[in-house]
Amino acid sequence: MYTGSLLAVAAAELRLVFGDSRADRGDKTAADRPEAPVPVAVGDIERVSAGRSQLLRFGASGPVDRLAEIVGQLSASAALFRHHRSTPELLEPVAIDEPLVHGTDLVTVQRYRGKTNERLTRAMLNIALAAAGIDPAHPAGIVLDPMSGRGTTLHWALAYGMDGVGIDIDGAGLDQQAIFLETWAKRQRLPHKSKRFRTGNAERRCLTFEVAPDRPTFKAGNGQRIQTFQADGGDRGLAIKRGTIDVVVTDLPYGVQHRGSVDAAAPQPADTVELLARSLPTWHRWLRPGGAVCLAWNTKRAGRRDVGRVLADAGFKPVIAAGGFSMSHTVDATIDRDVILARR
Ligand SMILES: C[S@@+](CC[C@H](N)C(=O)[O-])C[C@H]1O[C@@H](n2cnc3c(N)ncnc32)[C@H](O)[C@@H]1O
Repeated sequence: MYTGSLLAVAAAELRLVFGDSRADRGDKTAADRPEAPVPVAVGDIERVSAGRSQLLRFGASGPVDRLAEIVGQLSASAALFRHHRSTPELLEPVAIDEPLVHGTDLVTVQRYRGKTNERLTRAMLNIALAAAGIDPAHPAGIVLDPMSGRGTTLHWALAYGMDGVGIDIDGAGLDQQAIFLETWAKRQRLPHKSKRFRTGNAERRCLTFEVAPDRPTFKAGNGQRIQTFQADGGDRGLAIKRGTIDVVVTDLPYGVQHRGSVDAAAPQPADTVELLARSLPTWHRWLRPGGAVCLAWNTKRAGRRDVGRVLADAGFKPVIAAGGFSMSHTVDATIDRDVILARR
């Protein structure tokens, strides 16, 4: 992902997480804005340059401590300043912290071709949580990534203190992820248990992984859980209960081959729209009412309008910030990616 795109993605994330204050003034382009889970509204977002830094400037109303807490969780935040009341050209620092349960090593250490950019994945998770009415700074619940690769989305879910369910057709990638999780928990000296097993005539891999910050929490069965299945992402027969998933976040196969990547081992779907059309009804069934789905896809393979149409056909309602939103950005010469958000 080119760094030039990061700020545009961050601006869209800011609007969708906080709700655009123009939407609160009755802008009907906010088609299906759920109750904002945070009592802070943000508006008038603009990009400004300061020396070699690119910043986002915005207006905000609401408690500054809540603003700071959530800004700390956003994908591209390094610092937060506010204009001094009497001397607006002076910027006062506002302390921000990253409200994570586990450090970002969990998502940054693994390197492989076909990995989804960690920041984009985090932005997608944040906007999906907000759309599902979950405060991104205090999240709880289950994240499903039905095309999970080696687990960038699921590892963010762990870092956020949530549970994760992953599905991928590529067993080798899932094995790599299981080894990574086991090694990570050992190195962090965290109480954990990991069970790898096979189903479907021993052809398909499954993993159940549980980790807790301390022994009493682990013994009481209150750890965090990651479950993965080797299967088609829309396989209705998987052991996922109806209405139990809070958010679905996934970066769809790009429809291009990366040498040695998680994508390379998997059969490439002929068509993104066809893949979505057959998978979305299952994801809709697994999501709880009010849950959200956030998809990234290669726009060289399918247009935004077509992806919106199959979402609507499966019963999802689009979530649109005032003025619309796009996180469109270039990944490489063969991939232009965009993000779409909808609710059950
Ligand atoms: C863009 S990659 C996702 C990468 C992942 N977010 C990560 O960072 O590791 C798309 C994934 O979709 C998987 N895939 C392709 N077709 C699939 C299908 N029908 N069902 C489930 N997974 C599929 C590929 O194996 C690949 O891992």
